[in-house]
Amino acid sequence: MTKTTIETLRWNNNHLEMIDQRILPTDFQYLAYHSAESVAEGIRSMVVRGAPAIGCAAAYGIALAALNLKEANTENFLQGMESAFNILSHSRPTAVNLFWALERMRLKMETAVESSPNDIATVLLTEAHNIATEDIQTNRSLGYLGATLLPDSARVLTHCNAGALATAGYGTALGVIRAAVESGKKISVIADETRPFLQGARLTAWEMVQENIPITLIADNMAGHLMHCGDIDAIIVGTDRVASNGDVANKIGTYMVAVLAKRHNIPFYVACPLSTIDRSINNGSEIPIEERPSEEVTGYQNHQWAAEGVKVRNPAFDITPAELVTALITEKGIVSHPNKERICKLF
Ligand code: MRU
Repeated sequence: MTKTTIETLRWNNNHLEMIDQRILPTDFQYLAYHSAESVAEGIRSMVVRGAPAIGCAAAYGIALAALNLKEANTENFLQGMESAFNILSHSRPTAVNLFWALERMRLKMETAVESSPNDIATVLLTEAHNIATEDIQTNRSLGYLGATLLPDSARVLTHCNAGALATAGYGTALGVIRAAVESGKKISVIADETRPFLQGARLTAWEMVQENIPITLIADNMAGHLMHCGDIDAIIVGTDRVASNGDVANKIGTYMVAVLAKRHNIPFYVACPLSTIDRSINNGSEIPIEERPSEEVTGYQNHQWAAEGVKVRNPAFDITPAELVTALITEKGIVSHPNKERICKLF
């Protein structure tokens, strides 16, 4: 795996290790994973999160399943692998990178199916490493392209965490910011805290502080005021799934930011590796939106602030219509005012 400063996931001899993102930034700890089942649980419980990182974790989950079954006969091996694919594909529903990575692992397994389980396991581990390495390269490429969109001294708002922690490294939206800073621009970041899981406050702020990139944290409901005051020059977010027509699923609250950006004539960019584009669906209404536990809204960790028994909604993502997106930033080029035809040309 190509090294970056923050190693969200790493392979250690015979098992996977992932930073426990639930406890950042107060604690920093890697957790060890030895099976597909445990990786699926790590994804479900948000030890690892962010679309590309979930895809990488799932690929390693498949590799772990194969390694654990490498002494089995072919029938038991294939049966065990089927159950690994099944459990990982049910870990979270919205980020398409999960399904993209599982499909890639399945195709790899099928091309090696005449080999022994031991050899298939080796092939699958190599493929998981490839997915993680390519993810970092993709982020660097899209970061380099996206950096050209940011003027020097730009004040850039971001929502959620689309950084190194949401990928194998470098990040998508934060990758664009890193690349702009590396090119000598004096970029400053404004991070929405991103209720209710606080990816902006806990993760984006931490990443930027680690690298001395100037960052200001705001509560989500302050973004409109800052835009009105002329304090934001551009917005960059990541995405969990983009439909063929350019509709964007991203962390809950993104839609609100995009509407405000339109009102204030601020460019709204979406950093989007091609692995996040789902060409099998026509528009955003076909993207499944995950509903998460009510405890994430009524309190945080062991502290509850809402009345016991109150009814709660907790959709974890929303859809921003393509018409609100100024451009998609991909590793193959920038797609201004995305639509089906322009997105199709990328493939
Ligand atoms: O629920 P999460 O933290 O997995 O949601 C992550 C996001 O919505 C990110 O903005 C998105 O995955 C893009 S990450 C490069």
